[in-house]
Amino acid sequence: MVESLKTPDAMQQWSQKKYKMGKTVGLVPTMGALHRGHISLIEASKQENDLTVVSIFVNPTQFSAGEDFEKYPRDFAGDCKKLEQAGIDALFLPKTSDMYSEGFATYIEVRGISNRLCGAYRAGHFTGVATIVAKLFNTVMPTHAYFGLKDYQQCVVIRKMVSDLNIPVTLRFCDTVREHDGLAMSSRNTYLTSEQRLDAPILYKALCKASLLISERRLVKFREAASLMQQLLKSSAHISEIQYGSVYDSETLDDISEQDASSYSGKPVALAIAVKIGSTRLIDNLIVTVP
Ligand code: PAF
Repeated sequence: MVESLKTPDAMQQWSQKKYKMGKTVGLVPTMGALHRGHISLIEASKQENDLTVVSIFVNPTQFSAGEDFEKYPRDFAGDCKKLEQAGIDALFLPKTSDMYSEGFATYIEVRGISNRLCGAYRAGHFTGVATIVAKLFNTVMPTHAYFGLKDYQQCVVIRKMVSDLNIPVTLRFCDTVREHDGLAMSSRNTYLTSEQRLDAPILYKALCKASLLISERRLVKFREAASLMQQLLKSSAHISEIQYGSVYDSETLDDISEQDASSYSGKPVALAIAVKIGSTRLIDNLIVTVP
């Protein structure tokens, strides 16, 4: 049985003890409904640390009004089995009232980048993410923390928060784990009907085609790569809304589709997409170095 810590106090005491013993602690923050993407983060942490802690907390403040907080997939029994198999050292399992006590009033806002891309469609989402991740860092006190690059904007926001607030943690951003047909693993994939699921790899296909255009120097302006992605996404029978799909500066997340590709020579750019398939919102991205 994995050791479960159910309150912030119990978690802090556990971590303080390990810290005094000179142990490195890797944290993998999750909202549960674990899949192979999460397991790859756990494996990365286990390789690099003496101890690995996983947190499971469906964080209400990162869901906007009308989003899927209530129906977000929860599979505690399944998660426990996977965590036991993965061989973690502790599970942090706080209650909502422990993380957000009555009268809770302190939020972390990473200005600018939080309002772009997903932030433009999910009001307050990244403030909720930054706040809970800061709380998890203060509670688990990890030496290392692991996040998936599938949520690229989340990685950029957390990196900025850690740097701006001098939080003493080493961040690791790990590659996206994909299904056999390229669909990025996500707990929300379970919302897709079988027909929608068949169409969902179109996101990755669009990213790959645009990435090839960039890496083979077959374009002058990034606009050509953005148009190609849009064209492919529009050809899908199941995509009901394209929220964004373009080429972005990998740090500022500015849309750079009107810029000459040559001005980014040698630098990484982010190709990123968010669409709705039916009522399910899917995101994906690829980071490409411009030749
Ligand atoms: O990526 C997630 O699952 C969540 O945004 C995180 C980082 C666990 C914060 O709630």
